[in-house]
Amino acid sequence: MNLLNRSLLTLKEYTQEEITYLLDLADKVKEERRKKIVHQRFIGMTLAMIFEKRSTRTRCAFETAFGEEGGHAVFLSTDDIQLGAKESIEDTARVLGRMFDAIEFRGYKQETVETLARYAGVPVYNGLTDMYHPTQVLADLMTLREEFGRLKGLKLVYIGDGRNNMAHSLAIGCAKMGIDYVIISPKELFPDQSFVQEMREIAEKSGASITVTSQIEGNIAGADAIYTDVWASMGEESKASERIKLLTPYKVDKKTMEMTQNRNCIFMHCLPAVKGQEVSFDVIEGPASRVWDEAENRKHTIKALMLATLGKA
Ligand code: CP
Ligand code: NVA
Repeated sequence: MNLLNRSLLTLKEYTQEEITYLLDLADKVKEERRKKIVHQRFIGMTLAMIFEKRSTRTRCAFETAFGEEGGHAVFLSTDDIQLGAKESIEDTARVLGRMFDAIEFRGYKQETVETLARYAGVPVYNGLTDMYHPTQVLADLMTLREEFGRLKGLKLVYIGDGRNNMAHSLAIGCAKMGIDYVIISPKELFPDQSFVQEMREIAEKSGASITVTSQIEGNIAGADAIYTDVWASMGEESKASERIKLLTPYKVDKKTMEMTQNRNCIFMHCLPAVKGQEVSFDVIEGPASRVWDEAENRKHTIKALMLATLGKA
C-alpha cells in the first residue's frame, strides 16, 4: 500500500483498504512500543504542529509519536505564528512546506486545513476542525477492532450533538468500514441532510446503514458501542446553557447502557469529558468504558499515519 505524500483532511479521501492498512500498521507500532523496540524512522525530519485550539491528546500523540522516532516536532500556537493574521494561509503553507516534512493543524475552519494542504507540498494532517476530527476516528476504529476483532457488521450509536466534528467523523469512519451508525440527537442538532445523503452513498459500498433520529427508545438495542462527546465543542462555549436544555434527555447513563440489551456493549468518548453532564460518572468510570484505550490509540494511529504518508512504513 502506497500512501506516500497523502494528507488526512476528512478521511473521506481514504478507501476502506487504506484505512485497514493504517489500522494494521497502528497495531504493529503499538506492539513494538509494548516490547520496547526502538526505531528512528523519522530521524532528520521535522513536523510543524499548528494549534488554534487547545489540546492534550492530539498534541501529545503527534509530538511523542514523531519525537520517539527521532523526529523534531515544533509546536506553533496562534500566539507564535502569523497564520491568517499578518500572513495568509496560502503563504504560511508555502513557507512551512519549505521547512518541514509534514504539518499538523488544529483549529476552527475546515477550509484552513484544506488550504494548507493545497499549498504546502507536504502531507497535512487534520488534528480537528469544527467539521471533522479524522485522527480521532482512526483511534476509535482501532479500539473497536481490538475489542471485537472486526469492524464490519458492528453497530455504533452516537448520542449527543449530532452535528459536531465527532458525529461527522464517526459517520465517515463507520460508512467506510461497514459499521451500522446511528446518530441520536435532538432535531435542532441533526447533521445536514446533504451530509447524511453523502454518508449513505459511501455506506452503500460497505453495506453499512446510517440512521439519524431523535428517539433513544427503539434505536439502541443491539448496540456494540455507545459513543458520546461534549455538548458544547471548543469555540461554542457561549452555547453551553442552550445545549444543556436540549441535550439533558440524551445523557448517557446506566439506563442507556442497559437499553442496548447487550452486556458486551462498550462506552466510548473522544475526551475531554464533562463527567456528570453528557455521561454519568459510573458509566465513564465503569467496566464498559474504553476511553483510556481510545486515548492511547491516538498515538499509535497517528504514528502509523505519519509513517505511511512519509514513506517510512
Ligand atoms: N480527543 C482529543 O482530540 O483530545 P484533545 O482535545 O486533548 O487533543
Ligand atoms: N467535539 C469536541 C471534540 C474534542 C476532542 C470539540 O470540538 O471540542
